[in-house]
Amino acid sequence: MSSKPYDPSEDGAEMSFREKMSYSDYLHLEKVLDAQAPISAAHDELLFIIQHQTSELWMKLAIHEIASAISAIRDDNPQPAFKMLSRVARIFEQLNNAWDVLRTMTPSEYTEFRASLGQSSGFQSYQYRAIEFLAGNRNIAMLGPHAHRPDIIEMLEGILARPSLYDEALMLLSRRGFDIGEDARRTAWRAKRPENEQVLEAWKQVYSSPGTHWELYELAEKLVDFEDYFRRWRFNHVTTVERVIGFKRGTGGTSGTSYLKKMLEVELFPELWRVRTVL
Ligand code: HEM
Repeated sequence: MSSKPYDPSEDGAEMSFREKMSYSDYLHLEKVLDAQAPISAAHDELLFIIQHQTSELWMKLAIHEIASAISAIRDDNPQPAFKMLSRVARIFEQLNNAWDVLRTMTPSEYTEFRASLGQSSGFQSYQYRAIEFLAGNRNIAMLGPHAHRPDIIEMLEGILARPSLYDEALMLLSRRGFDIGEDARRTAWRAKRPENEQVLEAWKQVYSSPGTHWELYELAEKLVDFEDYFRRWRFNHVTTVERVIGFKRGTGGTSGTSYLKKMLEVELFPELWRVRTVL
């Protein structure tokens, strides 16, 4: 047996990147790895920053997928949207698992740097609002914290000006011959839509005869799956928050845990939850 250490170059591994694109060049790793700047001396602040930054990266991918799913449904081509929505659900599952890492931070450890955060909070996550607005939860009061950033307002208003994921699903129902009343005639997308009995009836028909309406049935289940994982994220968030800060007010100024518990009632696709009861 040779005592010589294994040299991967003998196996063909490239070792010279002077004039070639390397792994870190492609991924712009310096930019990503230079973006953590703790402002306290607390050991756990790096965990807190990385947890938020990685969540924002996954949200970026979720936005990319939801926006493409919206286009596919609008183009009467829902099959690719199914795959994209499955990916979004898996992204939320990934984010759900990530809470386990953050939960290793105790209240005492968080208290060491919480004051350094000032008024900053995930409440001001514009990508989170983009996901909510894209999906269909349109509460324009949530634009408030971004008033000082015209570029962010423009991005969010751009989403609000167009139909949401759920709006597109409803218009597909209409194009496939279901009478969905007012929802087929809407032209204003910015405000929250009221629930609609005719939409509930249309989903009821889809769920009563999946074989006849397979694509719409599959779309409905992909949407429910996405919302299911999104709800789990909200629940894991509020549980982590209660575990770490109890019922203290949030750094963003809300009542904290109480506010987040109220947000658990948010519904993205209301008639799809209602239809379960009437089947
Ligand atoms: C110890 C960790 C955390 C604590 C104590 C915490 C606390 C809170 C609190 C109290 C709020 C309510 C708004 C406020 O008044 O500040 C909030 C909102 C929010 N947080 Fe966290 N959070 C934590 C981790 C995270 C992480 C890792 C993310 C991932 C991006 C996140 C994303 C959000 C979002 C998106 C909201 C807005 C929710 C909504 O308006 O429905 N948080 N957080």
